[in-house]
Amino acid sequence: MTQQGTATVRFRQMKDGTQADYQLLEHAETAYVQALPDRVLAALKKLESESLQGYPVNRYQHSLQTATRALRDSADIELLVAALLHDIGDDLAPHSHADVAAAILKPYVRPEVTWIVAQHGLFQSYYFAHHLGKDRHGRDRYRDHPWFNACADFCERWDQASFDPDYPTEPLATFEPWVREVLTRPAFDPRFTGDQTASVQDPTKP
Ligand SMILES: [Fe+2]
Ligand SMILES: [Fe+2]
Repeated sequence: MTQQGTATVRFRQMKDGTQADYQLLEHAETAYVQALPDRVLAALKKLESESLQGYPVNRYQHSLQTATRALRDSADIELLVAALLHDIGDDLAPHSHADVAAAILKPYVRPEVTWIVAQHGLFQSYYFAHHLGKDRHGRDRYRDHPWFNACADFCERWDQASFDPDYPTEPLATFEPWVREVLTRPAFDPRFTGDQTASVQDPTKP
């Protein structure tokens, strides 16, 4: 099926595409990626109506509160955006939500921040797993990891603390410029992500 009003390649199988086809698609993708902040912010707002029940605040409020606490602790822009987005995968990946947020952030932030977000689910279990007959010390497998304390602090100071409906929480507008700044950086630019093995080319695409 072709898309109305949009230049469309003619191939039916990728192996039949031409250089011109792929240049056209690359151009279209550039524009698509530029709109990433809009899609991420929309997904975050969805957590207001579609989030886990039973907590004193919904996941959207929890996200804003987590980021507000980070802001008041003078966190840098990458940690602020991480705090805001850390639970954005809750609705679509309830059993691996931390991986979703980490995957979104990975091309744009230093590896430490990606790691903190990826591990925050495990580190959060320290606060409740024992109440459910499970091991709360799962995080200890990373006790000697250089970013252990950073992740433990992320959870202790911001994440696990942010279920207070009376906490004076900043609106999304406070954080939106930082989300836009981080998510429109060049992907996997060593200035931001360091010298990672991750390539600009995503082997899983499309
Ligand atoms: Fe989480
Ligand atoms: Fe959280």
